Amino acid sequence: MDLKWFRVPKDIVFGKGTLEYLSTLKGKKAILVTGGRSMKRFGFLDQAKAYLEKAGMEVTIFDGVEPNPSVETVEKGAKAMQDFEPDWIVAIGGGSALDAAKIMWAFYEYPELKFEDIIEPGSMPTLRKKAKFVAIPSTSGTASEITAFSVITDTKAHIKYPIVSYEITPDVAILDPELPAKMPPHITANTGMDVLAHAIEAWVSTTASNYTDALALRAIQLVFEHLPIAVANGEDLDAREAMHDASTLAGMAFTNASLGLVHSLAHKIGGEFGVTHGLANAILMPYIIQYNRKATDKVAELEKILGINDLAAAVKELNKKVNVPLRFKDVTEVEMDEKKFEEVLERMSKNAFDDPCTLTNPRQSSAEDVAKIYKAAFYGEDINW
Ligand SMILES: NC(=O)c1ccc[n+]([C@@H]2O[C@H](COP(=O)([O-])OP(=O)(O)OC[C@H]3O[C@@H](n4cnc5c(N)ncnc54)[C@H](O)[C@@H]3O)[C@@H](O)[C@H]2O)c1
Ligand SMILES: [Fe+2]
Repeated sequence: MDLKWFRVPKDIVFGKGTLEYLSTLKGKKAILVTGGRSMKRFGFLDQAKAYLEKAGMEVTIFDGVEPNPSVETVEKGAKAMQDFEPDWIVAIGGGSALDAAKIMWAFYEYPELKFEDIIEPGSMPTLRKKAKFVAIPSTSGTASEITAFSVITDTKAHIKYPIVSYEITPDVAILDPELPAKMPPHITANTGMDVLAHAIEAWVSTTASNYTDALALRAIQLVFEHLPIAVANGEDLDAREAMHDASTLAGMAFTNASLGLVHSLAHKIGGEFGVTHGLANAILMPYIIQYNRKATDKVAELEKILGINDLAAAVKELNKKVNVPLRFKDVTEVEMDEKKFEEVLERMSKNAFDDPCTLTNPRQSSAEDVAKIYKAAFYGEDINW
């Protein structure tokens, strides 16, 4: 039997003002889980609380989830849930808040569970015995609202763990474009290029299917058309809605088809230099498209559908439009020192090659190839080998 899965949340609610959907949930108690400040500052947290109260629920808030959430934060949130005993967990914010809430949920359902117990894929126990999960993303990027993934950092060991289980796929995703409309331009650009990376990598993945292709293709079209507008004019709600949809569509594609070398290399250069995930993806994408096109017809097929000659060049053009540098050497958000780059290159390349995303990349690679790709992307040299 050649069995393949395609799984997504049961309910995806989308459109302007859909935060109000919270007022239709049925339950007794809800806990809102959010990040640092933005959801509070822009009034979305209070609105969400009011909608849940309108639904007749008692509501409490767990806030302060940090970017790249830690095991400690997850344990604190799970404790708050065990004390309050909610039947709805409502995560609102960026990928970090959503990811943290997913694992708090697991520890709430199973207080005796330890973080080590769930690292192995397939080890997550059955959830939904105590609560169901709503995800409301405020960035248009990670698609955590749709995925079976959560990324949690063990701050003591300096390791980011991807937790993978269909159990943590949310029950309801609410996509209200008013939330990402408050993102500043550089976060919009970085998270938006992450969406494009998800969609292009799912499209060329060795486990792509007709289901994931349809979603990935639409996401790619939406990003090319709407990301420059969302970056230039953040309050353009039509562009924000298109990017929010693109993020979730790409998420549905990659949670089922997986990713490729762009993410493998982005994860490890992010670990070494602290460069933002979406920014690393944006820079790497054109070079890895050049590398991959020798091994798959899907790049040429995409160019034909989009009516363009050169996908790598089109991604570079898009990077320019949204003010993303074309090589790592020109990154300014963190120091990307050439000497350090050369020093860490071998180790970083080996780690990137070992990343799980490498498995579904269309071109069979090696740690040596990965090092050459890193160099090309650092110095801005086209790949034609
Ligand atoms: N679950 C998954 O499938 C998946 C996939 C990829 C990455 N991740 C993880 O997701 C995390 C990154 O998530 P992210 O890119 O959404 O960023 P984030 O949640 O870390 O937020 C980035 C910054 O943007 C701010 N912000 C978020 N929404 C805003 C808004 N509407 N207005 C103004 N500011 C806003 C946040 O406060 C924060 O300072 C990382 O931990 C990454 O490892 C998860
Ligand atoms: Fe990503």
